[in-house]
Amino acid sequence: MGRFWAALLGVLLLVTAVAARAETALPRIASGPARPMLLVDGKPFAALAVQANNSSGYPAVLGQVWPTAKAVGANTVMLPVGWEQIEPVEGRFDFGDVDAMLAGARAQGLRLVLLWYGTWKNTGASYTPAWVKQDGKRFPRMRAPDGRAHGSLSPHGAETLKADSRAFAALMRHLKVADAQHTVIMVQVENEAGSWGLARDHAPAADALFKGLIPQELARALGIPRASWQASFGPRAEQFFMSWHVARYIDTVARAGQAELALPMIANAALGNAFTDEGGDIGPSGGPNWNVLPVWRVAAPSLAAIGPDIYTRDAAAVERYLERYSAAGAPLIVPEIGNAAEYARFAWAAFGRGALLYSPFGLDDTGFVNYPLGAKVLDKNTLDAFAAPYRLMGSAMSAWPQIASERPLWGTARGMDGADQSTVMGRWRLTAAYGRWAFGEDDWTWIARDPHPLADKLTGGLVVAQLDADTFLVGGQNVRLRLTLAAPAKGESAQVIEAQEGTFVEGQWVMRRRWNGDQIDYGFSFGAEPVWLKIEMGSYR
Ligand code: DGJ
Repeated sequence: MGRFWAALLGVLLLVTAVAARAETALPRIASGPARPMLLVDGKPFAALAVQANNSSGYPAVLGQVWPTAKAVGANTVMLPVGWEQIEPVEGRFDFGDVDAMLAGARAQGLRLVLLWYGTWKNTGASYTPAWVKQDGKRFPRMRAPDGRAHGSLSPHGAETLKADSRAFAALMRHLKVADAQHTVIMVQVENEAGSWGLARDHAPAADALFKGLIPQELARALGIPRASWQASFGPRAEQFFMSWHVARYIDTVARAGQAELALPMIANAALGNAFTDEGGDIGPSGGPNWNVLPVWRVAAPSLAAIGPDIYTRDAAAVERYLERYSAAGAPLIVPEIGNAAEYARFAWAAFGRGALLYSPFGLDDTGFVNYPLGAKVLDKNTLDAFAAPYRLMGSAMSAWPQIASERPLWGTARGMDGADQSTVMGRWRLTAAYGRWAFGEDDWTWIARDPHPLADKLTGGLVVAQLDADTFLVGGQNVRLRLTLAAPAKGESAQVIEAQEGTFVEGQWVMRRRWNGDQIDYGFSFGAEPVWLKIEMGSYR
């Protein structure tokens, strides 16, 4: 072999080795220039997920999980793994069900996010094994001030923490061996932790802790003097105290798991009022409601992301939650959102804030419906509603997640009243309008018109990335976008330089056609089938 061929072979071997390493690289959430990104197989990824129903993580039922995921074009399924399922007898683990999940997902070309239902599942102990449920001495429940037991396990239970951590670590140890290819890209530690109806444990040891000072770490991080919980947080003292201890507990469980396999770990929140924490509507005490995120972030540094479980249909509240959970550059995940068709449009609002994961809850074919939270029936219309944004985002998986980590973004979904929404990006004002015909202006009186069929429908939204000062990548559905100069100079008018409809192939933009004439004279109208547009604007005078 000549020197040239030997050198070429060397390069090829190196390239193959690097590629192989990238493929087995651990999924992780990394920081990006503008916002965090999720890396899967070493590449930026957006989890277009569905979450299965609570009792769907069994080999006998998994066959009714995958088809719905495929029907909406999901690339990821969130599946519960109950503590009772893997450790029915203390110290004896059985990962048969987990293996079935791995095999099933791989056969479908899907990734998984596993949900560890341990000490807390919707705050309750229902997924703990019988040997935990039946031993209240070793695994204590929280106590009310009068000494009565509450349904939630106490976050101060040292034995509970030890047992939960050991089981979770065993799960992660198993994954390390059984999932070298990282079908599992994230793990949620517990589910909607906290307690309803009792702000904190009143057992003697917990009372003593509550009377003590807040942790030095917390005082330092919040920039407040180290004082008692009461003095530090006033009316929120019990909630903050409980949050610290629940978050610390979960951090300990997460770390035990990460010591075996360092996948990104996440937590999900049952939510309180989106707008205010006055008035007591703060979700379960101790859970990661938005008002205690600063406490959670200090107490549970091993969590890569904390996300809201969204079950309000009020668009303003949804947008507010998305703002709050992505504030200050935090990675945005939406581990649960209702599965009724009207929730589908919030995917635009989420991905337009750089969401790394979006997951309608209870999207499987087991026949269970959780109306009034979600849909009354998972009919074709409902599945189609979720499939539309996933189809578009999925088509740009080689480009969007990278762009979203780098560029200024905007995402919005139709509000309850269908009013126009706008934002300013650089010198451009972007205005989204809903329920408009693609042809004609609102103020045209010279010709009669029927109302648009979607005028009162809760559908529509868009994502926008500003690629450079005057160029925008826009994806959307059932929305009309207009770009105008935010502050035109005297005599300055906006013009469309070029609007290309297209897609991404291996990260490169490929034009399908230009939009011009009727298709842009009244704004860019995105119809029922979402598309990508690359719009270059300019101005003249
Ligand atoms: C939120 C929980 O996290 C889910 O597991 C489920 O119980 C839904 N609520 C309701 O269907």
